Parts: sequence; C-alpha cells; structure tokens
Amino acid sequence: MSDNFDVKLEKKSYLPEYSYRDNSWIGEYEPAYQRFLDDPERFWSEIAHELEWMQPWDNVMEWEHPYAKWFTNAKLNITCNCLDRHVNGDKRNKVALMWRGEDELHERVLTYRQLHAQVMRFANALKGLGVKKGDAVCLYMPFVPEHVVAILACARIGAVHSIVYGGFGADALNSRIRDANAKVVITADVSYRRGKTIMLKSIVDEAVTHAPCVEKVVVLKRTDLNIELMPEKEVDFYEIMASADPVCEPEVMDAEDPLFILYTSGTTGKPKGIVHTCGGYMVGTYYTTKYVFDMKDSDVHWCTADPGWITGHSYIVYGPLSTGATVLISETVPDYPDPGIWWKTIEDIGVTIFYTAPTSIRMFMKYGEEWPEKYNLDSLRILGSVGEPLNPEAFEWYYRKIGKAKCPIIDTWWQTETGMHMLATLVGDKMKPGFTGKPIPGVIADVVDKDGNPCAPGIGGLLVIKAPWPSMMRTIHNDDERYRQYWNTVGNYYTAGDLAVKDEDGYIMVIGRSDDVIIVAGHNLGTAEVESALVSQEAVAEAAVIGKPDPVKGQSVKAFVTLCVGYKPSDALKNDLIYNVRMSLGPIAMPSEIEFVDSLPKTRSGKIMRRVLKAKEMGLDPGDISTLED
Ligand code: PRX
Repeated sequence: MSDNFDVKLEKKSYLPEYSYRDNSWIGEYEPAYQRFLDDPERFWSEIAHELEWMQPWDNVMEWEHPYAKWFTNAKLNITCNCLDRHVNGDKRNKVALMWRGEDELHERVLTYRQLHAQVMRFANALKGLGVKKGDAVCLYMPFVPEHVVAILACARIGAVHSIVYGGFGADALNSRIRDANAKVVITADVSYRRGKTIMLKSIVDEAVTHAPCVEKVVVLKRTDLNIELMPEKEVDFYEIMASADPVCEPEVMDAEDPLFILYTSGTTGKPKGIVHTCGGYMVGTYYTTKYVFDMKDSDVHWCTADPGWITGHSYIVYGPLSTGATVLISETVPDYPDPGIWWKTIEDIGVTIFYTAPTSIRMFMKYGEEWPEKYNLDSLRILGSVGEPLNPEAFEWYYRKIGKAKCPIIDTWWQTETGMHMLATLVGDKMKPGFTGKPIPGVIADVVDKDGNPCAPGIGGLLVIKAPWPSMMRTIHNDDERYRQYWNTVGNYYTAGDLAVKDEDGYIMVIGRSDDVIIVAGHNLGTAEVESALVSQEAVAEAAVIGKPDPVKGQSVKAFVTLCVGYKPSDALKNDLIYNVRMSLGPIAMPSEIEFVDSLPKTRSGKIMRRVLKAKEMGLDPGDISTLED
C-alpha cells in the first residue's frame, strides 16, 4: 500500500454543447444525491419498484459487516425483466440484439420476442442435460448472439454462469472450470479474429481433460468443418435446442441466490471468482444503465467489451436488456480489416451510445483522425469510457474527433467486484479531463489515507467505498477470507485497491492500482499469475513481472527471469517462454519483454520487490529499500 502523495491537478474543464438529459427520472445530480443520503433505502426501493418481482422484499438491505443482503426474501428472475417484461409490454417486436461479424456480410437481428423464444428453448435444452438451479455452467464462446442466449438461458433456470473470455488459454480455462465446479461447458467450434479462424473447441478439449466435474460440452457449430462430437459427452447447440420445449417458466430465484461467478485477476496466482447475486445486481445494473447512460427507448447502445468481462455482463447483457434497449454486439476488433471498421459500424447502424476503453481510443489516435473522418458519426449522443484512466490527451481526441465536441464523455470507474458504475461524470455535468467524476447517487466514495482518514484535495490516497450498494459482490467463490479483506483493510470501508486523488469539487482522478495487478489494454492481470506460468517452465528458476507504461495499451508486461542451472539466455529461449505463457494463459498475458537476470531483488523475508525492478526500469528512485536483502 502506498503512502500519501501530492498530485498536480489540471484545472481544465468542459461543458459539452450537447448536455440535454431527461431529468424526469432520478433528477439532477445534487438533489438526487441528497435524496439518497437522506434515505438510502427509499432511494433504492423506488428504483427496484420499477422492475418486476415475483414476491416483494421484507427489507431493502441488511448489513452485518462485511456481509450485505439486499431485497431480503424477495423473489425474482432477472430474465423476466430483461425479456418477458418487454415481450408482454410494448417492445415485443423491438430489436433487442443486432450482431455484426468481422464483416458486414455477417449480420443478425433478434427482436425481444425472438430472443425470449431462443432463451426459453435453450434453457430447456440445458435442463435436458441435467442442469439444475445452483449448478455452475461455464461459457467459453465467441461473441455471437448464441452467447447472449446461453447467458440468459442459465439465468432462466437458476444455473450460475461463469463466463471465461474466449482469449484465455487452456490452463486458465481449466482452472476456472474446476474452481467453479462447472457441470457443463458451452463453446463453439471456432471464433474469428482478424480474419483468422481460432479453433476454440480444441482449447476446450484440452481444458476439460483434467476437469472431471464437466459432464457435458455443448458445441455451437459455426462452420462446415463438421468437427466430430464425442458421443454421450458432447452435444450440438442447435440439435439440443430443436428437440427442447419452447416454453420455459422462469425459475423462482431468491434475491440473494447467486446469478454468476466471474473470475478476475488478483494479487496471488489464483484468480478470484467474484460472486454476484440476482436481486441487487439487477437493480444496480438497471439503475446505472438508465441513469449514467441516460438510456432512452430510441437509443442504440454499443459497448465494445466482450461478455467475458464484467463490462459485457453489466452493460451489454443485463443492464441494457433490463431497460429494453437495442443492443449492438460485434465480433470485430478495432482495426480489422482496417481502423475505420468501428466508425463504419456506427454510421451503418446509427449507434447513439458508444462505450469503449481508453486503450482503443489511444490505438485510434495512433492511426489518425482520417479514419473517423471518413464516416458520419452524427448519430452519437453519448461517449463512454471504462477500464483504466482516460488520460487527458485521449479524452481530447475522443471528445473532438469522435464526439465533435457535442457529446458528453462519460468516464465510468467501477470493477468486477462492484458490478455497476460507481464513479462517473454524468450527462450535462462539467467534464474534467483526467478525472473520472463523482460518486453517483447511491454510492459513497472517498479518497483516504492508510488509517481511513479523508485526504485533502490534491493529496493522493486510497479509493474506498464507505457503504454497501446493491450490486456489490457477495463473496469470492471458495475464498470468503479474501472477500473479507476487501472490507477490513482500511477502516471498515470497501477498499478498491486503486490509488486516487480528489479535487475541490469532489471529482475523483483514479491513478492506478495500489497492488500487484497490471492493467494491459483494459484487462486485469495478476503479476503472480504470469509469474507462475513462467516458473512452471523447466528453464525458469524465478520470475518477477512488472507493468511498464505503454502508449497504447496503458501498460505492458515485462518479465525478469532467472534461469535454472544448465540453461543459458538466448532469444530462442525468450520466444519459448513467451509462447508458453500464451498457450497457458492466453495472448493478453504474453510478456512483451523478457530480461534474463542473475538474481531478483528481495526483502529479507524473501518477497520479491517488484517496486524496485519497476523503478530501475523507469530510471526512478526506488524509494525505501531498507528491507532489501542484498
Ligand atoms: O484500476 C481500476 C480500473 O480497472 C480496475 C477494475 O478492473 P476490472 O475488474 O477488470 O473491471 C474493469 C471494468 C469495470 C479498477 O480497479 N478502472 C476501471 N475503470 C476505470 C479504471 N481506472 C480508471 N478510470 C476508470 N474509468
């Protein structure tokens, strides 16, 4: 944990030309925030009342540090709010999902009625495989409409989904399957990336070999490769759907029943299975989609994340669908077949709300403004950012080149653990480049020192949340002790693990992680996870990994490695080590640099001092090295 530090705060701020927001709902920031402070339970219950419940709650919230229960004893099924409510209301034939593949020749559209019908059928198909309420189902899929169908089908029958990003390697998939104890894995024969075909199913084959918990593998066939399925164990997505009943009544879920587990990297080698529950998560994502994105019935929402990350869970699937929005999903990467593809998509489809990560914006800056200039981006009205700090240069570019100085930039700070937006600049509010914004109504956040005392404006400290919120994680799967640490590290607050600073107006600038998590292109990586992938290789004695500043990705992975006796440093060995990390954890974890060293700096108790390596790498003062062994 870091000591306090001074931060130079820029004074620049902007008011977007377009700052209209419909205040008929929660209202302006200040009065809404005050209403929340005056009566938090009433604030949340008014929002929750907009949604459908099978049985109302006894209490809005019950808190016994560090455990919260929200909407106690209420019964619901989140899919009723994402689907049935719209199908039975006025949105039956409204487009729910629009999908685009890597090129515009591959497009699909599902109305709310169609999505509902597919979800029910697939839900019955899962039941047919023996999946019951409370069972874990792992999804390892490309970003196609069936992915969303599978997610909602799990929720329909009360199965706990655990989505693993399709870019992870076999070992990462295997450890997540085993930790969640997944009974079924849903995958596809292939995914496409930059025109290349990735054999997804082979990665699953390898991952399930050592996962005895897996009883069935469902395979979505996208190609005519006609891969052979192993009888008994493997089944075809559409075949089991075709023989399933069309109507599936929603499972009655308690508000505190788990909805999903999602793994995020932590400071140890083992990823943390963040557990979210049905009721609070539904209310939190519904509220923030409607309030922070100012979602209107006419909006076309495009969040460029993958469902494998929390951003996809909350702001592609559950939040937007619970508000009845039209959601664009796309299998494209930002620069294939060329760096105009996303802008072309916005023009073609008429996207109004665009939500992406700073790393993509910085990549577009590098390619130049001539790419967005080729397309008409007038449909856009709101631009969002998430995943890492939006640096002022990227803010300016996004604001001027994409938003044409008329769209507000909604920077949103939150985490897998928080489930929903926590800090944001809201539509119509003053925007300050570099600052995320203020805690939204419903959230009490602050920047504090190690003892939990608030830091003065301009003094950096730890970002904490001071009171529970509906969509907070409830535990870490198989590791409740780790959950408790979040609430017991600084005072009685929830410690996010981020360093931040506040200004006089209460705007918060998030500076980065205070722990050993590296954020590469918006993806969290635990140094320990990469290190253990390196150390598991024969040649490696010890490894230490640091995040190095990268102009596009935010950070890149640099590894320092000591070799076992009998191995000599060479470029070939470097490539081997990198390749093996890729195979084990996936391309996102690949070190971009490996340096062979004779020894690693350690404390006397044997802990590797990554901070010293980082300071040396960046030509900075390593700070206090009194505990350094040598
Ligand atoms: O360090 C913060 C950074 O991403 C971390 C959470 O990562 P993850 O759980 O993968 O969720 C990412 C998407 C919600 C945070 O602890 N982070 C996220 N959003 C921002 C951010 N840092 C600065 N500004 C943001 N807007």
